[in-house]
Amino acid sequence: MTIPGIQAIGIAVPQFTLPLTALAEARGVDPAKYTEGLGTHRMSVAGPDDDAVTLAVRAARQSFALGNIDPSTIGLLIVGTETGVDHSKPVAAFVHGLLGLSWNCRSFETKHACFAATAGLQNALDWIRAGSARGKKALVIGTDIARYGLGSPGEPTQGAGAVAMVVSEEQPLVTFEDSIVGSFTRDVADFWRPLDSTEAIVDGQKSVDCYLHALAGAFREYQRVSREVRGGTARTADFAAMAYHVPYGKIALKAHRHLRSYETENATSSRDLARLRNDEESLVAYEERVAPGLVLPRQIGNIYTGALYLALASTLLMSQRDLEGARLGLFSYGSGSCAEFFDCTVCEMAQGYARQANWTAMLDRQTVIDVPEYERLVRARDERAALRDVVPLAGEGPAFLGSRDRYRHYEG
Ligand code: CAA
Repeated sequence: MTIPGIQAIGIAVPQFTLPLTALAEARGVDPAKYTEGLGTHRMSVAGPDDDAVTLAVRAARQSFALGNIDPSTIGLLIVGTETGVDHSKPVAAFVHGLLGLSWNCRSFETKHACFAATAGLQNALDWIRAGSARGKKALVIGTDIARYGLGSPGEPTQGAGAVAMVVSEEQPLVTFEDSIVGSFTRDVADFWRPLDSTEAIVDGQKSVDCYLHALAGAFREYQRVSREVRGGTARTADFAAMAYHVPYGKIALKAHRHLRSYETENATSSRDLARLRNDEESLVAYEERVAPGLVLPRQIGNIYTGALYLALASTLLMSQRDLEGARLGLFSYGSGSCAEFFDCTVCEMAQGYARQANWTAMLDRQTVIDVPEYERLVRARDERAALRDVVPLAGEGPAFLGSRDRYRHYEG
């Protein structure tokens, strides 16, 4: 039986980054509210050349380079995004062209808020399990520019970036065994973006409640499926690490506590209950198993569809434990809402791969900007999006150059 996995991961961020202490000062907020209350330190800021397409292409190129992947082996391209660039043409089509992938490749875009890349990943895994891949690989990308109104409560939870994953049955970093997935869907109005709006609309506190409600719902279903397939009751203590969807760092702590209290309420033995009630153990578990996954997200901010996979990459990079053979718990949440809890197993190469990728050095190379420059970049992006002409490529690209005859042009 074929066990598919992620063979290579690439991460892209825009050139610019804004420290949240500077944003707090400009908005008259105590900086600790952002750095401790939200648990995020910096947010990546997209420039006028950046959009969901260019970030996706850069992440994919990095995954090909790090994983030594021949692009002609890609037979399925799925791009998950909630900041698409056209109502009809998928981001995947532009990405396919810029990457020069084979014409004999299925390509499409998925949408369900931040869940979209997970929809793509599950689809790619099933494509391989079903035997439809016939030796080809899938490329799954989550790519977004998270945007809320200037001065709004959502503003410090912005970010921009993409995570690309090559999915195959060869030399995996992590594998997905047994197809154990707990799905949870509930039609809720917590976060959305009308077709005529560049900014998301969000009922912030409600969105957090919906996230936590979906987490318990997805985990309950994961336990049910796991009991059927593997027997016994799956517990958070079974996971050497857990990666959650991370719109802001602090939510992972809320999520972890919520799962622990869900388990306490549903404990079936007094031994389990005593263990779960031990708060000190819970905090140690959080520091060891969850905090490594927050190192990159805290420095990048919310990248929507890629956020869970950024946390996974961060876990592989920053965990002090030898994770080889260990099982990780993964939680994906997309507002609106759809969520899934699933697991993966870490393979021998994974932590060495992450160290070689050296994503923290990539963040060190970002240009630190101030608030006036951040606001200028937001305006410059809107101007480029409205441009009915094409500017020349400056630098290396890939870059979005503007729209001629209402068609978006890219180069690089
Ligand atoms: N020092 C330290 N901490 C402080 C502080 C200070 N001076 N002042 C406030 N805090 C703490 C608060 O106590 C609070 O902590 P808890 O959550 O643990 O209680 C935290 O800082 C945030 O404070 P508020 O709740 O008052 O913050 P807010 O009302 O301004 O908004 C938010 C927070 C709702 C997350 C808002 O930023 C927002 O709407 N963000 C966008 C939506 C979002 O990210 N939702 C997440 C779930 S939905 C999802 O996951 C999908 C997605 O990607 C969007």
